[in-house]
Amino acid sequence: MANFDWNNLGFSYRKTNTILSCSYKDGQWGPVESHTDDNIKLSAFAGALHYSIECFEGLKAFRGADGKVRIFRPDENAARLQRSAAFMGIAAPSTELFIEMCVRVVKENIDFLPPYESQASMYLRPTLIGSNPQLGVKSSTECLFLMLCAPVGAYTGGNLQPSCTVISRDYDRAAPNGTGNLKLGSNYAASLYSYNLAHKLGYEAVLYLDPLTHTCIDEFGSSNFFAIRDNSYITPKSDTILPSITNKSLEAVAKELGMTVERRKVPVEELSTFEEVGECGTAVVITPVYRIDDKPALESGEVTTYSFGQKDRCGEKSLKLYKTIRGIQYGEIEDPFGWCMFVE
Ligand SMILES: Cc1ncc(COP(=O)(O)O)c(C=O)c1O
Repeated sequence: MANFDWNNLGFSYRKTNTILSCSYKDGQWGPVESHTDDNIKLSAFAGALHYSIECFEGLKAFRGADGKVRIFRPDENAARLQRSAAFMGIAAPSTELFIEMCVRVVKENIDFLPPYESQASMYLRPTLIGSNPQLGVKSSTECLFLMLCAPVGAYTGGNLQPSCTVISRDYDRAAPNGTGNLKLGSNYAASLYSYNLAHKLGYEAVLYLDPLTHTCIDEFGSSNFFAIRDNSYITPKSDTILPSITNKSLEAVAKELGMTVERRKVPVEELSTFEEVGECGTAVVITPVYRIDDKPALESGEVTTYSFGQKDRCGEKSLKLYKTIRGIQYGEIEDPFGWCMFVE
């Protein structure tokens, strides 16, 4: 077992034993290779470096209460990566290759898979880049698919620590009819200016609106939005948000728990009616949101504040949803959906 303070890992880069790579050339994928050095050799003319021909995924492996190792819904991540790659016109690994590499990277780095007791996990970062040298703007003909991993704890603060967020009215993360529904690195580059500004102002996350009308809620910079009112789980329906696998799982759990699931447009004004609000995504499952500030512009002093629940505590229904997903991931409760893949 690697020697870490497993209870205080945070969410940052840590060198592990190996990374895996697989190259696509002449119309086919080559063998999977394992490297102890995580520096890669890449042409300075690679399309990834000039035209952001890059997409990635994020998923997790867990050491369960029963000692078994589980990966959560890797087939969903494979399918989303394939959609991202298809949009950029580049080759994507098959679901089989994707999953084979997920399993192998976990096995080769098993010493870095946090112990169950720590409630930490191993984050997998599949990354696909256009790798052939090129000058003109066109889809890459050669690709490099990397499977990276790192042990991680909470994304920010502690697990389930409520966050204070701000609506971005003067900066969008996605364009109407753009790429917001795909996991392209370029989307994140586009969100950094507003994120940095909001961060300097003391906010933990930025909430973006639908870029066409700026009247409805889209999502946070690195997570989806959900709200709870009465017995309903409400989450935005929008073409410009990333279809979150965690959100999809929470919807299924909410239904299972007898809640009504509403996936629909969510007007900003509706915020005043919600009992609980949260961010959801692989890194956190759920981060409760205790406050959302709405400003005409991030830089302006004028604020309309929406508050939800308590600053130091996760809402009751969000907590129930969180515990169910976490319980499934750590093998504490039965997985009725068949979401977990076992690493033997
Ligand atoms: C913009 C954005 N939305 C939503 C999510 C959540 O998606 P998932 O639940 O698949 O991790 C992420 C990433 O985790 C993200 O980067």
